[in-house]
Amino acid sequence: MRTTGLLLLWTLLLVVASSTTHRLEASSIEQGRRLAQLYCAECHSIDKVSPSPLRIAPPFRTLHERYPVEMLEEALGEGISTGHPSMPQFQFEPDQIGDFIKFLKSLE
Ligand code: HEC
Repeated sequence: MRTTGLLLLWTLLLVVASSTTHRLEASSIEQGRRLAQLYCAECHSIDKVSPSPLRIAPPFRTLHERYPVEMLEEALGEGISTGHPSMPQFQFEPDQIGDFIKFLKSLE
């Protein structure tokens, strides 16, 4: 009897823990999307269908076709300026970068 009770408790704990992780994951993506909306959407398409407002700026959903999006982590932290003549320089905080990468991955 006692073991059954314990098992039940563990199962409950596991369920609660995993659903919290899911929610955290979702809110990271949401944060990343907000960053993109705020800083990048003026030129880049940040959704799964529309063309970029600035034609020469690649839609974010196509970035992973060129390189793993994790490669952007460094660029974003050091200040991204690679081959962006018309793009202002950006520098993100480490937790913003994590959110942003998660958001990019959600577009793949
Ligand atoms: C004012 C317009 C503008 C804004 C705002 C902008 N970009 Fe860009 N971005 C460009 C243009 C134009 C290109 C294509 C430049 C090129 O290929 O040389 C580009 C290309 C890129 C690339 C591809 C670079 C490569 O070499 O593959 C990445 C990644 C990128 N932008 C990230 C971002 C991020 C992240 C933001 C927001 C924080 C952002 N951009 C905001 C105009 C912009």
